[in-house]
Amino acid sequence: QRTIYLTRHGESEMNVQQRIGGDSPLSPAGITYTEALAQYIANENIKDLIVWTSARQQAICTAAKINAPTEPLKALNGINPGMFEGLTYREVAERYPEEFAARDRSKYYYRYPGGESYHDLVARLEPVIMELERAENLLVICHQAVARCILAYFLDKDPEHLPYIKVPLHTVIKLTPMAYGCMMESIPLSV
Ligand code: G3H
Repeated sequence: QRTIYLTRHGESEMNVQQRIGGDSPLSPAGITYTEALAQYIANENIKDLIVWTSARQQAICTAAKINAPTEPLKALNGINPGMFEGLTYREVAERYPEEFAARDRSKYYYRYPGGESYHDLVARLEPVIMELERAENLLVICHQAVARCILAYFLDKDPEHLPYIKVPLHTVIKLTPMAYGCMMESIPLSV
């Protein structure tokens, strides 16, 4: 029996400002989460735990206090928002209303100009998910869009619903693959 622990990085400065994409330092609450997460993981007493993070600073920093081997993987980086990198959702809605509306109409297939769609992200994550299938106990620290794709795979969610799966900040999702399907438990940590 092995467990996959999945979490978003701690709240980043860009999350606070509702900016899209990025490589961003953690907010004060995000820094507190790095301690809460390390404490939670230590209490779980997980055999041979390995930590995978994305290559973004908010994910790498979230792992910093955890006592386990950690590997940053670019394949786990958040969805690439192309030319909308660093803009707020409001700025995109005001400056590029057609793009904003197109995304709303088909969020799974909508590709950011010069960036990725959720569909592209699923393809990018495929090799990582194959590795996840083979791995032993693992903690994955990533980004909301990436966590949605991983959850959709293990919980068998349709592409149409995938981009709307709620993955709250500062919450550990525990996935236990079973013979048929996967058990899921959400553990919000107080920050
Ligand atoms: O990881 C990126 C965002 O949290 C995903 O937000 O609902 O705009 O795709 P979205």
